[in-house]
Amino acid sequence: MPAQDVLVIGLGYVGLPLAVQAARAGFLVTGFDTSAGITQALNAGRSHVDDVSGGDVEAARAQGFAATADEADLKPPDVIVICVPTPLSEADGPDLSAVRAAAKTAGRLLRPGTLVSLESTTYPGTTEEIVRPLLEKASGLSAGVDFALVFSPERIDPGNPDYGLVNTPKIVGGVTPACAEAAAAFYGRICDQVVRAASAREAEMAKLLENTYRHVNIALVNEMAIFCRELDIDLHDAIRCAATKPFGFQPFYPGPGVGGHCIPIDPNYLSYKVRTLGYPFRFVELAQEINSRMPGYVTDRAAELLNRAARPLNGARVLLLGVTYKKDIADQRESPARPIARKLRTRGAAVAYHDPYVPSWQVDGTDVPRASDLAAAIAAADLVILLQAHRDYDLPQLAATARLLLDTRGVIPATPAAPHIETL
Ligand SMILES: NC(=O)c1ccc[n+]([C@@H]2O[C@H](COP(=O)([O-])OP(=O)(O)OC[C@H]3O[C@@H](n4cnc5c(N)ncnc54)[C@H](O)[C@@H]3O)[C@@H](O)[C@H]2O)c1
Repeated sequence: MPAQDVLVIGLGYVGLPLAVQAARAGFLVTGFDTSAGITQALNAGRSHVDDVSGGDVEAARAQGFAATADEADLKPPDVIVICVPTPLSEADGPDLSAVRAAAKTAGRLLRPGTLVSLESTTYPGTTEEIVRPLLEKASGLSAGVDFALVFSPERIDPGNPDYGLVNTPKIVGGVTPACAEAAAAFYGRICDQVVRAASAREAEMAKLLENTYRHVNIALVNEMAIFCRELDIDLHDAIRCAATKPFGFQPFYPGPGVGGHCIPIDPNYLSYKVRTLGYPFRFVELAQEINSRMPGYVTDRAAELLNRAARPLNGARVLLLGVTYKKDIADQRESPARPIARKLRTRGAAVAYHDPYVPSWQVDGTDVPRASDLAAAIAAADLVILLQAHRDYDLPQLAATARLLLDTRGVIPATPAAPHIETL
């Protein structure tokens, strides 16, 4: 079989792993990204994405992968995959401007027989109502007749050592069943298992269901963490016990707030869609309210802990450990560390941070001092707040040397013998 040409539009956390994996599967892959900095780095064999190494990019390049930021370089491919960002607008509604721009780019390259797959997370109806008309207008062709169009949600979990693109089942939902079959044939060469949705809308909904499920369950345990403390119940121990039930329960853990591109943002896409029906999506709105209050709760707990040691938060040296949104990765998007640092500063604390993945960190345009000597910084801090338990951190050592420690991840057992340590 001759090598099929694949164009990946958007070479970020989603698009780059796909481009690399498609090259590995024998496709001739071109990447298009509007950021020339990113395409230049990739063409020089450097990766900006946690789960993709420079060696992976080099290997893809040896298979013919090349990246460009110039649309004029692009030739009509057999498959186009759209992996551009879907952020929130200022009004907290969906911002589909990158999806629209990518659909126009794709439309200009469409030929009879092309497969177009949208992977960006978005509300149900986007593939049919937004992407399809743009593709058809730019090409003069019809989706489901002349070319195939599907939605195939990316389910990448950055930093997950067990599940990646290949062994996570890939959902495809076509505007027609034949479109889904075309997509299944493509993704079947890259992923171990392809799951067909009834249509693009169900595939779009499946992704939002997964993320809303996480969002709501995280809010549930966050709310429980607040009242369990007042009831003097160790919630982490209760979760450990509940998780031994072999059916009907999945553990979620409290934390300082939700971060990353998906959990704080995607449910807004769904509540936007529900609001078009004239009523709110109450579960999502409640979960948002609870999760967004967690940084304030962490700040209050920090002040309380210092108060017990007869120290005001105003003027205290507070060291934040781990400012990324997730353990063992460098991604800082929507990390709750930022509102926590802001609130601590507003209340007069002298905030410093340490994170093995973040060489410099700004909050509201101001640099937060980075602790270069971790042991010295822990010893010097009035209070250490563990926000992300990166594997580099020596937790027993931290527990033994911090003067006061607020563990927002529940990874350091609080014992009566260690009253200087508190868990969220
Ligand atoms: N990061 C994740 O863990 C994750 C997981 C599942 C789904 N998603 C979804 O996948 C989509 C992409 O997310 P991401 O994390 O890869 O974003 P990202 O910001 O890491 O990468 C997107 C890339 O697209 C480029 N871009 C923007 N507009 C473009 C255009 N018009 N043409 C070409 N390139 C363009 C940007 O320069 C950027 O490099 C989003 O909808 C997101 O919700 C992300």
